[in-house]
Amino acid sequence: MNAALSARSRPIGVFDSGVGGLTVLKALRLAMPWEDFIYLGDTARLPYGTKSAQSVVRYSLQCAAALVGRDIRCLVVACNTASATSLEALRAQYPALPVIGVIEPGAAAAVAASASQHIAVIATEGTINGGAYESAIQRANPGARITSRACSLFVAMAEEGWTSGPIAQAVARRYLEPIFLREGAPDTLVLGCTHFPVLVEAITAVLPRSIRVVDSALTTAAAVAAHLHGGAAADVHGGPAGTVSWLATDGAARFARVGSAFLGQALSADDVQLIDL
Ligand code: DGL
Repeated sequence: MNAALSARSRPIGVFDSGVGGLTVLKALRLAMPWEDFIYLGDTARLPYGTKSAQSVVRYSLQCAAALVGRDIRCLVVACNTASATSLEALRAQYPALPVIGVIEPGAAAAVAASASQHIAVIATEGTINGGAYESAIQRANPGARITSRACSLFVAMAEEGWTSGPIAQAVARRYLEPIFLREGAPDTLVLGCTHFPVLVEAITAVLPRSIRVVDSALTTAAAVAAHLHGGAAADVHGGPAGTVSWLATDGAARFARVGSAFLGQALSADDVQLIDL
């Protein structure tokens, strides 16, 4: 096998605080179905969104070390809270490894989608408090206005499977109406948390129809494909389907059960290897 082929066959490492990053993995596999992935969910320490930045940086470095030890060729930080706090530390620790987070691609997509450049961001407390989306959006367009709100309950609702119907819509209304039902409201909403794409039906049901919704899972997959292959090239690459190795730090059965809903595909607890970080 030549050097280029053997380099290509090394897996892409993906980590998240738990199962939420499976929305990113799903998008990555759609964009690059031939690739092999190792997915690590740090379920023992979920949620990251309510922890201090120092703790999340420490956890992220430990997740990365576990994946680097398994010979990955690219690291995808499939967690908004970890991306908001830890990218710099991860890149400093592994200068030769491409490290791609979810915030820059989501911010760039929001700036591209918004006509008014007034953009709303919803995420966990940790992501909102650190201001990472504000900085990334303003790097893409210094004139953009950002309205942000932590929507912590959405995380628990997504894990509970309460993703549509009256309860999900009532909570979505409570969080989103103060942002969108007023003069000069944003015209674009960034789903700045890995759990939120599974709630998109309830979220869009309470939004004015004209609002554009940006899902950072899809935009991140496109960024990874562009970095590794110069573009999302599912239909031109061909070749056999890639594999996924599943790692978690606690609760293989829960990871498989809740994760199946995020992935849109059945996962078996027998396929999930528990590791210590
Ligand atoms: N994965 C986290 C994020 O995208 C949400 C869950 C958590 O708080 O750990 O921010």
